[in-house]
Amino acid sequence: MLLSLAILLFTFPTVTAQTDLQAKCTGNDRLYNGSSCYVVVGTAKTHNEAKTSCNHYLGNSGHLVNIKSSAAQSAVRTLITNYATTTVTYVWTCLELLNSSAATSVSSNWGNYFRGGTLDAKAVYLPWYTTEPQLSATSNRVVYNKASNYIHSVPLSSAYSYVCEYEEALREPVVTDLEQKCVNLTSSFKTLFLNDICYVAHP
Ligand SMILES: *[C@@H]1O[C@H](CO)[C@@H](O)[C@H](O)[C@H]1NC(C)=O
Ligand SMILES: *[C@@H]1O[C@H](CO)[C@@H](O)[C@H](O)[C@H]1NC(C)=O
Ligand SMILES: *[C@@H]1O[C@H](CO)[C@@H](O)[C@H](O)[C@H]1NC(C)=O
Repeated sequence: MLLSLAILLFTFPTVTAQTDLQAKCTGNDRLYNGSSCYVVVGTAKTHNEAKTSCNHYLGNSGHLVNIKSSAAQSAVRTLITNYATTTVTYVWTCLELLNSSAATSVSSNWGNYFRGGTLDAKAVYLPWYTTEPQLSATSNRVVYNKASNYIHSVPLSSAYSYVCEYEEALREPVVTDLEQKCVNLTSSFKTLFLNDICYVAHP
């Protein structure tokens, strides 16, 4: 008995506990890498619609993907390549103009916008395609293109698939009753749970 226990302990010495986010991050539409869960949504939406729909996932606040490093870039590429449900070539990222009056062609004028429209950080990693960012007043948002493996500026009113990112650091420690009710409110209502407030739109 003791011997078999000793063998068991010896055979499985490196079992590490999964985080709750990691446990939820399995399936054809998601990939866990670094400390983020990336979720691809094949349905094409405008930038604002895509941004809002990433804001919340029960117990986790999220945002459109931040391609913050070559590792994140490669994770996003792998995710959308392996996604079998829909062919996904372009996905929205969380990049927006820091100063909407300044030229779109200035790379330092781009930053990562997270939930609630707040600017989290000036972008540090910007894998622009050679002719990007374009000088175009209307190309004020950014997509990642799987084919080129680069980012491209496009108009916010265009519809594209997107990747949401949920980070361990943005985890909500407690799922409240209000949050649960907000998520449960379906039918024709559109709900958004943000900073402990449940917003309900009656279309
Ligand atoms: C996950 O991140 C690592 C670096 O942290 C990177 O080397 C690897 O390619 C990534 N995995 C995928 C599936 O892209
Ligand atoms: C934004 O850009 C415009 C045009 O270049 C400039 O006049 C303005 O001062 C900038 N605003 C800020 C807050 O930097
Ligand atoms: C929300 O829905 C789930 C699944 O149907 C149910 O288990 C839960 O009790 C509901 N929560 C609230 C607060 O209504």
